[in-house]
Amino acid sequence: MRKLENIAVLPGDGIGPEVVQQAITALTAVKEKYGHKWEYHYGLIGAVAIDETGNPFPVETLDLCTSVDAILLGAIGDPKYDNDPNLKIRPEQGLLAMRKALGLYANIRPIKVNKDLAHLSPVKEDRLQNVDFVIYRELTGGIYFGEKLKGDNFASDLCKYEVYEIERISHLAFAEASRRKKHLTLVDKANVLETSRLWRKTVMELSPQYPDIVVDYLFIDNAAMQIILNPGQFDVLLCDNLFGDILSDEASVLVGSLGLLPSASKGVKTSLYEPVHGSYPQAKGKDSANPFATILSASMMLRDFGYEQEATDIDEAVDFCLNYGIMTEDLGPIHAFSTSQIGEIICVLITEGKDGLKTRKFNEAFSTIV
Ligand code: IPM
Ligand code: MN
Repeated sequence: MRKLENIAVLPGDGIGPEVVQQAITALTAVKEKYGHKWEYHYGLIGAVAIDETGNPFPVETLDLCTSVDAILLGAIGDPKYDNDPNLKIRPEQGLLAMRKALGLYANIRPIKVNKDLAHLSPVKEDRLQNVDFVIYRELTGGIYFGEKLKGDNFASDLCKYEVYEIERISHLAFAEASRRKKHLTLVDKANVLETSRLWRKTVMELSPQYPDIVVDYLFIDNAAMQIILNPGQFDVLLCDNLFGDILSDEASVLVGSLGLLPSASKGVKTSLYEPVHGSYPQAKGKDSANPFATILSASMMLRDFGYEQEATDIDEAVDFCLNYGIMTEDLGPIHAFSTSQIGEIICVLITEGKDGLKTRKFNEAFSTIV
């Protein structure tokens, strides 16, 4: 397995820098605990990169990303770019350019409901028992990257897939299903779309290579409904780029907050780890944003490099916080903790364990919590 020696850190926009900082705190805690030597290298992406260089994904950032072992990203987006459809340069282009340039074709978004937080979801709690699935979203093809046309009275976005693009992510999704509950669901719109029929045909042809995996097929409209009606039925959901984008936001509602969802994007070489949420500009600089999704993304990174114990330390510290009400305001705890306090508490839990918290005081209720 490849060693983790150099990590590119791209904080990005809005709350990105604040949440990334807490993930770095968690990473550094396990780094020191286990004597690792990885280094962090910071780069620009998104609106901050446009402000400084005119380009949302500058060449320096591309060079950095291709020279490291893994990438940790915060968030991208700034409202000043949102309401002018004539703008030629936008922060999100940085993200799309990076996905394409680095060949990050598989976006992996695990959805697991923590029982103690089920009440935060607008979905009835009885629907949320045993919800533990993962979305495999194709990330470098389809309607996002097909030919774009615009005339005075029309616009067109082409959705095109080649068989190899479907095969490579399908293999990853089948392999994931083999490690999990052995159930793969392809989400498509094969009753209408040619690309969806190609997805279905390709997955059907691959499935004999994975005889222990049960494969089923759902139309996207039905899948959107089933995620709310009966989310416990899913194990691995395989989707094209657009359907995966939509379903992953929808699925985030099940876990209670978008602020809890990590993701990994894997590809031909370097993988990228980032929270599913956006840049949440309203909270920028307030030290109030939820850092758990980014911290959990860092743990996904460690696990991919074989640092199982290190990743587990982070996951357990996060679980401890969630179970004891040590949370940011979005999760509605009795006493909200700040973004940086969460980072500090995660660090203490990793390095000293639960007892380490006894000597600290973060807010009124803290001593009763721990
Ligand atoms: C995501 C985001 C991006 C996407 C946007 C910001 C371009 O919504 O990562 O899900 O649509 O892929
Ligand atoms: Mn999205």
